[in-house]
Amino acid sequence: SDAAVEPVTSLTFREIPHRLDETHHVAPGYRAEVLLRWGDPLFAGAPPFAPLAQSGAAQALQFGNNNDFIGYLPLAADSGADKAEHLASANSERGLLCVNHEHTRPHHMFPKPGAAAPGSTPVQIEADMAAHGHSVVEIEKRDGRWQVVLDSPYNRRITALTETRVSGPAAGHPRLRTAADPSGRKVPGTFANCSGGITPWGTVLTAEENFRHYFGGDTRAIEATHPREAQMHRRFDILQQSRHYWQRLEPRFNIEREPLEPNRYGWVVEIDPYDPAAPPIKRTALGRFQHEAATVVAEPGAPVVVYSGDDSPDEYIFRFVSAAAFDADNLENNRDLLDAGTLYAARFDDDGSGRWLPLRHGEPGLTAADGFASQADILIDARLAADAVGATRMDRPEDVETNPVTGRVYVSLTRNTERAATDAANPRARNLAGHILELSPPGTDGARDHLADEFRWEVFVLAGDPKAAGADRGRYGAGTSEHGWFCNPDNFAFDPRGRLWIATDGFVDFGVHDGLWAADTGGPGRALCKHFFGCPRGAELCGPCFTPDGKTLFLAVQHPGDEEGADFANPTTLWPDFKPGMPPRASVMAITKEDGGEIGA
Ligand code: FEO
Ligand code: CA
Ligand code: CA
Ligand code: CA
Repeated sequence: SDAAVEPVTSLTFREIPHRLDETHHVAPGYRAEVLLRWGDPLFAGAPPFAPLAQSGAAQALQFGNNNDFIGYLPLAADSGADKAEHLASANSERGLLCVNHEHTRPHHMFPKPGAAAPGSTPVQIEADMAAHGHSVVEIEKRDGRWQVVLDSPYNRRITALTETRVSGPAAGHPRLRTAADPSGRKVPGTFANCSGGITPWGTVLTAEENFRHYFGGDTRAIEATHPREAQMHRRFDILQQSRHYWQRLEPRFNIEREPLEPNRYGWVVEIDPYDPAAPPIKRTALGRFQHEAATVVAEPGAPVVVYSGDDSPDEYIFRFVSAAAFDADNLENNRDLLDAGTLYAARFDDDGSGRWLPLRHGEPGLTAADGFASQADILIDARLAADAVGATRMDRPEDVETNPVTGRVYVSLTRNTERAATDAANPRARNLAGHILELSPPGTDGARDHLADEFRWEVFVLAGDPKAAGADRGRYGAGTSEHGWFCNPDNFAFDPRGRLWIATDGFVDFGVHDGLWAADTGGPGRALCKHFFGCPRGAELCGPCFTPDGKTLFLAVQHPGDEEGADFANPTTLWPDFKPGMPPRASVMAITKEDGGEIGA
């Protein structure tokens, strides 16, 4: 069937088949090399990874666990360049790889310490906390192969203990103040960092997603003193027993001890990778929810737009619009651009139109009488504000990306098996396989108005098996092969030609590896999906990220071997090392074409 497919899509690679085995697979003619593994040293003094002797001190000098978002920021060949010169260089052979470390699974990460649970001893808890957060790593392409620059002055680890600042309308608000931080402006750490985004002023936005897993306690115990927190902690599904044991070292992770602590997570955090001394900053103007990503659209002289999804069943898609304009001539002037502006939630109408609804204090439903004393309350409880204005509840919004060629916006809805009532934008009652929406802001390709409050939308792909019966049936562009269908779209990237690359998380539940698919978004190959990369078993695929020249594609293979019944002592794969005694390790891979050309060309 390939011969029939190739004339209608711009993507020329030969597809790989669906599979499920111990290793990764890439389309023929491409090289897939492991660049960075969990535990790899980033600094000259860092110890080599020792899975049986992990510690917080060692992990804080090593690449963290479970890589998710990847951002690439160029470094000019001239080391004396300033930030604007680095960015303008668009260098695709030297840069800063900025990588989220979303989470860990203690039973996969640690050996069982005697009778105790894995991850529960003080030494293991310290290692666990240091394995989260973010890494900035200088990388360089030498003789066609990417290498890590060990001990680069840019190399940096941000962990669950790194001090961060809080800025924007909710900074210092009483609901963000705790016993340890009466200022409400200094929060230890960032964690649950899922996807993210890059700004044109040279910073990284990292999105705090499943912060709920780190907190534990009974919300009924705070009902009388903190009714709003009790309500919201339940909505975020904070459980009596947290997944991690951090509250043994830091009681603030017990919501009965410190009911306000969770209000300090679930934000978008801005990191300046060019300045290793700059503290990460939590930008409260973008709202608090389970931020999956933060995708920036910026035109010189116009306000900046940041799109973000709230990845939980029946939650919302958000847009932030800055009050001030993007200054392309003096990048330093954008330093606090994300601290003032308007947050919106999306409403999708069944006629294919949509509207961004402002979450502005004082508007109907958003007044003190409605339980929002100020804009800070709206931002801290952005979900309640979106409820109040009648936004549309979505099927777990994951990544949002804009097509650099057409300006259209793509949203992955990964799945939602809990949906009660369907609508045109969430058409399945039991959405096992997920779908992809395409939003068209007003205007024409290349000149779309992301500041407009209305848009058009349609379903781009209904994921799932095209041979399945009834509502489960998948729907793709004509010519999609038996390998081209997938389930559970999660992370997106666009290549420089404006083709959509789709990473999945959950296809493994259908007995097939998760991986990467690609499609044109227009022309005769529109939504014709082709299978490019497959993960080792148990892994999901994260972080697709292209260099500016489109010749390298970085991929984050997350949680290899995370399968039912497997643990540290009984792994189902030893990817990528395949060495006895070395556990499976989440890793960043660099994909290049053997002939040196553009990926997917
Ligand atoms: Fe961290 Fe929604 O994936
Ligand atoms: Ca994700
Ligand atoms: Ca993305
Ligand atoms: Ca996911």
